[in-house]
Amino acid sequence: MTVKNKSAVQGCQSRIWLEVDLDTLEQNFKRICSAVKPLKVMAVLKANAYGLGVMPIAERLLKAGADGFCVAELREAVQLKPFGKPIQILGGLMDFELEEAVRNQFILGITDYNSAKKISDESVRQGVTTEVHFKIDSGMGRLGILAKEAVATAKKVVKLPNLNCCGIYSHFPAAANDEASLAQASCILELSEKMESAGICLEKRHIANSDAINTCPFATVPPFTQVRAGINLHGSFNADGERELGLETIVSLKTRIVQIREMPAGHTIGYNRTCRLPVNTKVATIAAGYADGIPLNLSNRGYVVIRDRLCPIIGRISMDYTTVRLDGFEDDIQPGEEVILIGGAGSSRITVADWANLKGTHPYEVLCAIGPRVNRVYISKKGS
Ligand SMILES: Cc1ncc(COP(=O)(O)O)c(C=O)c1O
Repeated sequence: MTVKNKSAVQGCQSRIWLEVDLDTLEQNFKRICSAVKPLKVMAVLKANAYGLGVMPIAERLLKAGADGFCVAELREAVQLKPFGKPIQILGGLMDFELEEAVRNQFILGITDYNSAKKISDESVRQGVTTEVHFKIDSGMGRLGILAKEAVATAKKVVKLPNLNCCGIYSHFPAAANDEASLAQASCILELSEKMESAGICLEKRHIANSDAINTCPFATVPPFTQVRAGINLHGSFNADGERELGLETIVSLKTRIVQIREMPAGHTIGYNRTCRLPVNTKVATIAAGYADGIPLNLSNRGYVVIRDRLCPIIGRISMDYTTVRLDGFEDDIQPGEEVILIGGAGSSRITVADWANLKGTHPYEVLCAIGPRVNRVYISKKGS
């Protein structure tokens, strides 16, 4: 893992790099913790921490006091195991994952009676007890026990040996301060009460993700016991919530100019000739394309920042290159000059949300699409 201070990053020799600000990550995490206190915060680090690079992010969150991690699948959990903190696999397990998941003592989800039986059998075989949480489909329509079947299923599951059935959880498809989300949160609390009446005592109840932390006060207070925070750790999500919690973005995506040319009027730019220059134009070709995660939809629509100025993207973005207009730049601008794709300040700021809007998607997809050849550089005044 490379951790650099800011001046070292300015000297970075990459063609394209993602700066991840670990100090701001820690600040965001602490703000979320105070907002949901006394609930615990489980950091959701699936998909390589949404593409940012899981190990440095996990390490810093642990130093900041993270109680544990949530991931989507076994391999992600195994990667985090050396940190020695509780790790919950949020999704459903495949049969071939059972042995390793139980052996590593990960917290597993019960998605139906059969999944519980398999985890129980494997736990008996290994002579261990596995912590499991009932995963309830209260409205997401993706995975889990349907709410109406939950109590009956739980009554059967708790009879199985070597399971520590101590939690119940669910997920919002669209977390908002509205009736649908309130109904989902109430459903989980009611199920928890009904199970308790049936002698099944669940110590852990959780439903809130990032948007819910910001918009669903009913999901971030007891008797819920924890929240699962993913994208808001990166300061990227629902804009109103971001303002209220004071979260800040932790990512900047940067590249460099490869070539600068004075192009004649009438010349076309890029594949399919989607741009024809109306006048003689100074253009720069920069060392980043859609393989690095720049959405194709930014072709002829998006901007980059060079020397604090917004420069329009012209023509179609290619796999490795993007062309931009350099209106009014002095001749001292040269190949190698830094270009900000995401980041910047004031009126020359481009956010993950701006890209998401232009692409017609959400910030999650933008972050996860940042390509493998982008060098992830971690910056911190603390050094790690
Ligand atoms: C089950 C579950 N919980 C929590 C999260 C975290 O969501 P967010 O990144 O919105 O905080 C996710 C992410 O998709 C999820 O699938």
